[in-house]
Amino acid sequence: MKVVMIGAGYVGLVSGTCFAEFGAQVTCVDVDQAKIDALHDGRIPIYEPGLDDMVARNVREGRLHFSTGVAEAVPEADLIFIAVGTPTRRGDGHADLQYVYAAAKEIARHLAGYTVIVDKSTVPVGTARHVERIIREENPDADFDVASNPEFLREGAAISDFTHPDRIVIGVESERAETHLRSLYRPLSLIESPILATNLESAELIKYASNAFLATKISFINEMSGLCEKVGADVHAVAKGMGMDGRIGSKFLHAGPGYGGSCFPKDTLALTRIAQEHGVSVRVVEAAVEANGAQKARMVRKIVDAMGGSVAGKRIAVLGLTFKPETDDMRDAPALAILPPLMEKGAQIQAHDPQGADEAKSLLPDGIHYCDDPYAAADGADAVVLMTEWNAYRNLDLERLAKIMNGRAFIDLRNVYDTATLQHAGFNYACVGR
Ligand code: NAD
Ligand code: UDX
Repeated sequence: MKVVMIGAGYVGLVSGTCFAEFGAQVTCVDVDQAKIDALHDGRIPIYEPGLDDMVARNVREGRLHFSTGVAEAVPEADLIFIAVGTPTRRGDGHADLQYVYAAAKEIARHLAGYTVIVDKSTVPVGTARHVERIIREENPDADFDVASNPEFLREGAAISDFTHPDRIVIGVESERAETHLRSLYRPLSLIESPILATNLESAELIKYASNAFLATKISFINEMSGLCEKVGADVHAVAKGMGMDGRIGSKFLHAGPGYGGSCFPKDTLALTRIAQEHGVSVRVVEAAVEANGAQKARMVRKIVDAMGGSVAGKRIAVLGLTFKPETDDMRDAPALAILPPLMEKGAQIQAHDPQGADEAKSLLPDGIHYCDDPYAAADGADAVVLMTEWNAYRNLDLERLAKIMNGRAFIDLRNVYDTATLQHAGFNYACVGR
């Protein structure tokens, strides 16, 4: 099958490469010339474990191509995926659909023969029908169907999530479109990944509802972590005990500094706006969003308290800046909400991140000292704040750390360490919910 992927970002590049791995002929198109130049030079513009090898193999074997324009690949395509960004629209919290609509318009002009246009971007209910209208207006003679195929991959585990999904959701309204999508995903149905076919609206809503549910689960355990701290309970034990109930499940019950990333924050917000537009209340989701903001603010207070009530003039080593490990993505990372208020209170930040420092520099205030390794960040510091649980921070040389630091505060926002070990090594240890 011939596939065009519009947008070669975290989702488009991974999905396009995996489809090529399944045997399809894939062209990834992006308007960002620098991204396409990098891909042509064999450089991967994002950090995603395993992606470089898979891209190289599929390019070498002639199944994966890159381009800045749609004119050549679109007329040949059986399926065209729209995987462009849908960020929060400035000012009102709705999903900004300008990139989706621009892509639809651009595709329309070049369609030839029957084609399925598939929304892979996370988009509000009704978007697929609007994409259909745009294409119909732009090219009344085109023979096409629009489908929805939301993506559930997580950054850092994107390839295994894409190649071993819990489910594949396809919103389709014609047999031809369903047949095309089922045959593209056939290698996954062979390993028994279920395909759920629904109407367009249900597929679009499944994505938002799933993200909102997971975000709510995290906000729930984060609120419990605050209660644990007051009553002497251990949030690990509470999460474990809850998770043993098969109806609850143990995943996404890890307390931390609040969820971040390119999806949960913007998608929970967008879902509240979709509901408002339709006059429906989604108070649980609104509460999850509010609790997430409160958790980040609580982390600032936790750090200040652990440093004796003031951070003015103090040096803080921050380990990890990205919203989760194994990615260079800084979108809505908790560090972006936690570090600026500490700096306003007079803290000096010495930060390390294995992949995210370049991106962080453009998003965080000036004045942060970026270091090449965690020990350089800790040199002379009054406190260490473990912000993101990269593997590199899981087994720190505590003796070395204690020697090079000025103070002894260790604030572990990801609960990587245990109290006894850190206290034994001479640190004043603070964590979340224990
Ligand atoms: P991204 O910003 O990494 O990539 C989007 C790409 O689209 C950019 O490279 C941009 O240059 C390109 N683009 C914009 N307009 C274009 C056009 N008209 N033609 C060609 N290229 C164009 O975004 P992402 O993280 O890959 O997310 C894409 C969509 O997938 C979003 O709707 C997001 O919510 C959803 N999603 C993301 C993830 C994730 O983990 N990142 C997971 C599931 C779903
Ligand atoms: C998420 C969804 O999981 C994925 O299905 C969707 O396609 C895109 O959005 P992603 O944002 O890449 O994926 O990472 P995820 O592992 O879900 O983590 C999101 C945020 O929640 C991170 O900041 C993470 O640290 C936080 N988190 C996650 C917790 O605080 N506790 C948990 O138990 C799990």
